[in-house]
This record gives sequence, structure tokens and C-alpha cells, in this order.
Amino acid sequence: MERVFPRKVLLGVTGGIAAFKAPLLVRALVKAGAEVQVLMTRAAHDFVTPLTLSTLSGRPVLTELISGEGTWNDHVHLARWADVLLIAPLTANTLSKLAHGQCDDLLLACYLSATCPIYVAPAMDLEMYRDKSTHANLDLVSQRGVRIIGPESGELASGLSGEGRMTEPEAIVARLHADLVGNSKLNGKRLLITAGPTHEAIDPVRYIGNRSSGKMGFALAEEAASRGAQVQLVTGPVSLRTDRSGIQRTDVSSAAEMATACKERAPQSDVVIMSAAVADYRPAAPAENKIKKKDGALDITLEATEDVLAWMGRNKPNGQLLVGFALETNDAMANAKGKLERKNLDLIVLNTLADAGAGFGHDTNKVTIIGKGTKVDALPLMSKADNARAILDHIETLL
Ligand code: CTP
Repeated sequence: MERVFPRKVLLGVTGGIAAFKAPLLVRALVKAGAEVQVLMTRAAHDFVTPLTLSTLSGRPVLTELISGEGTWNDHVHLARWADVLLIAPLTANTLSKLAHGQCDDLLLACYLSATCPIYVAPAMDLEMYRDKSTHANLDLVSQRGVRIIGPESGELASGLSGEGRMTEPEAIVARLHADLVGNSKLNGKRLLITAGPTHEAIDPVRYIGNRSSGKMGFALAEEAASRGAQVQLVTGPVSLRTDRSGIQRTDVSSAAEMATACKERAPQSDVVIMSAAVADYRPAAPAENKIKKKDGALDITLEATEDVLAWMGRNKPNGQLLVGFALETNDAMANAKGKLERKNLDLIVLNTLADAGAGFGHDTNKVTIIGKGTKVDALPLMSKADNARAILDHIETLL
């Protein structure tokens, strides 16, 4: 299986001979789907060129806290952007600075500001690595939660043989992948997830909509992407943002636009999750111009929209998992089970509006996951992020 690592990686390269492996590391990370921002120490410039690393990463390489004519490279922003900080190779000198909280370049400032997992791959010659101060420094950073990869044993640049070689780039990516993506069955799978409401035009300025915020669909998309899935997120009008790698977002407005976007993407998807609150009806003849106020009532004739989920159920490719949502206010369980059968679904997630804190606009939700047969999983009130985890865990059991 191809390894997918859809993470934002801040890669620190320090000045040792093993920096010659940094271009291969950048290439392996990018190939796995990572976005890579390279930070180099000044000494690293003597071993590998910034041009090589910026070309391979597709981003300018950064070294100084202040560069050029007073341009501030914002370490706080960079540290918050990153899903993981990796320093490879890590020299004895930078290790010592990490251990003692020094902060005289951008990499060290990012290290001190980082809240994400931090990995280091030390590389140095035999006696340097054996030195007691090196080991004391490694112990110090490891006690503070830094994860240490390698070094490996073998031939060293000095001609000596022993411990000190930087772990090979592919093995570093494999370790990050195993720790941060895990062995999710969603890794490398293509998911189509819909989110949010739809807006059905009455005239050029008014529409019929609903109270869906899109939070549940976005939480599902982010969790799936973090498990290594390639997510197509088709969303109605929402005020949410996501910059998670692995998510390709398409914005639509009406049920008809959502249907078109979904029909294009569904056939290539391994899993489809329809969490959007798609309108069931739309104005039959939306006015071309703004409707003027008149005396008396205004009648708007509505016509049915296409049921996108039902279309997907009828056109489900072999092996695809189709998941629907149901929002019910009465006879919830029977209605949801009915939809599961009728629309040829594998799973349906039932929402009710009966519980405080559940449903539209909230950050929490209370759902029941209903599978074929008698399988029912009633979850307690929890954050939409936790709901997303539970729903995707359930989906993984079916893959
Ligand atoms: N859905 C859809 N296209 C529509 C309407 C709904 O794909 N035009 C999908 C929703 O995304 C959701 C599921 O169908 O996954 C159930 O939506 P819901 O509105 O609860 O059910 P309906 O089938 O519309 O049934 P009813 O209105 O009778 O409850």
C-alpha cells in the first residue's frame, strides 16, 4: 500500500555531513503528500544548498528570524502551522542548544514555540555521539517529549564504523507515518464528504435555506484526512475554513449544484458520506428580478429537488460504502432504518434535535449510528470532532 502522509512538516536541517540526505528526505515527504517548509541553520548552508531544498519543497527555505530588509519570519505562525517538527539531521551543536533553551536562529525559535509533536534524527561521528554530554542532552530533550529517531550503526563519513549515521529518509517517513497516521484502513482511500446546507433561490437576493452549519461534515473531512484519506469535500454555503492537507474543497450553493458535484466524484470514491442538509424542495420558478413588495400574501410554488443520496444508492459501485445522515424529530429510529433500506445505504447516522447541545450550529452532537441488520451504536453527547472519530471508526470496521 502506498504510504500517504498528508501533514504539514516543518523540517529543520542542521550543519552536518548527513545534510546531504536532506533533499531525499524532502522528496520522500512530498511524495507521501506532505507539505514541507524547510528551515536551515547557517551551518547547514555549507553542506546543502537552499536552492535544492526550496526547489524540492516548493517553498522558500528560511534561516534567520529577520531576513532581508527587516522581513520577520514569524516563528510563532510557522510553529502553529506545523503538524510536526522534524529536525534531520540533528547535529551535536543544535542538540545542545535545544537541550539548553538557546534561541539564536529561526529553527530554535520554532522549536521553543512548537506545540506539535517533535522528532529529531541525530547524526554525528562516533565519539561525538558517544560523548556523555551528547547523551545527557538527548536524555534531556527526550524527557521533555522529543522523539528520537536513530541514529543507525554503520560506516561513518570519517571512515570510522559505529553508531552515528542518520536514519535513512524512507525510514524516517515510515516512522512519522506509523506514529502520526497509524494503520488506519482509510489511509490512501478516496472519500467524498458533503457538508452544510443548500440555498435555493427565490429571486436574485433571497433563498430558502436551513440551519446546518457544516461543522459535522468538516469534522469528518478533517478526521478522515488526518487518517490518510484523500477527501473530496463538497460543501454548501458555510462560514468554515479548513487548511488540512488531503482535503480538496468544492463550494456549491444549490441542491442541483451539489448533485452535479457529487455525481462527478462518487464513482471514483471508496466511501461516500452525505452529511449535507440538502434541500428537499426549491422554488419552481425563481424570479429573475427581485420580487417587489405587494399587498396580500406571496405564494411560492416549490418543486422537489433530486435526492442525491438516493441517486448514489441506485448507482453504487461494487465495494463502495455509502453513508447517509438522517435528521428526525419523531419515530426517529424507524424512519432512519427506513431510509437505510430505501436508499441502499451501508450506514446511517441519526441526529435528533431533542437533546440540548445536539444538532445545528452546536460544537457538540448526539448521534446514533445504525448499520444493516440490528447493529445500533447510540453515542453520548460529545464534540463533533469526537463524533467524527466514532463514525469513521465504525466505517473502518466495514472496510
Ligand atoms: N439527501 C440528499 N439529497 C436530498 C435530500 C437529502 O442527498 N435532496 C441526503 C442527506 O444528505 C442525508 C439524507 O439524504 O444524508 C437524509 O436526509 P433527510 O432530509 O433527513 O431525509 P429525506 O430523505 O429528505 O427524508 P425526509 O425529508 O422524509 O425526512
